[in-house]
Amino acid sequence: MDIFACKIKESHLDIDNDKLYSLISNIYSHHAGRSESNKGGWQSENIISKLTDFVDKIKPIVKEYVDEIKLNIELDVTQVWANVNKYKDYNAQHFHLQSNFTGVYFVKGKKEAGNLLLHNPFTNFNYCWFNGKLVKIITPNQYNSQVVKIYPQPGKLIVFPSWLQHSVEPNLTNEERVSISFDIN
Ligand SMILES: [Fe+2]
Repeated sequence: MDIFACKIKESHLDIDNDKLYSLISNIYSHHAGRSESNKGGWQSENIISKLTDFVDKIKPIVKEYVDEIKLNIELDVTQVWANVNKYKDYNAQHFHLQSNFTGVYFVKGKKEAGNLLLHNPFTNFNYCWFNGKLVKIITPNQYNSQVVKIYPQPGKLIVFPSWLQHSVEPNLTNEERVSISFDIN
């Protein structure tokens, strides 16, 4: 039997990314942004009021996810913010406190613009298997992987539990990596 699994939902949204990008660019050029997990990159304040169409599109997808994992929760999108990572910018490992579900939507950026890394949530995993006598992985899978990498792709939406530690690799391109993140309670 498999126990304690973690479901990640991947969807592709039909959204005008050029329009989203120009909206984010406009905010980016007028606001200093805030400092959270972003290292070098820019992160907006909560811009939920400016992204009502986006919120309407993600809600049914999160509802599907919650149904799939058999939870009953009133979905309330509490925070939506934009991220712009330029060359070498990255996001340190973190999770989202005071939130149930978190998502990332990719607006712009090439495949090499920085993977989203989802870290193995078993607290003692690295300590026991990868600290002493090294365990050698034959084929990476859900039982033996330290991280799962998700490459950026405009239109892709990823939803995961807010307790899951995640980070973003450095942007290795000269183009912006633009994404929208959100928290749902
Ligand atoms: Fe995050």
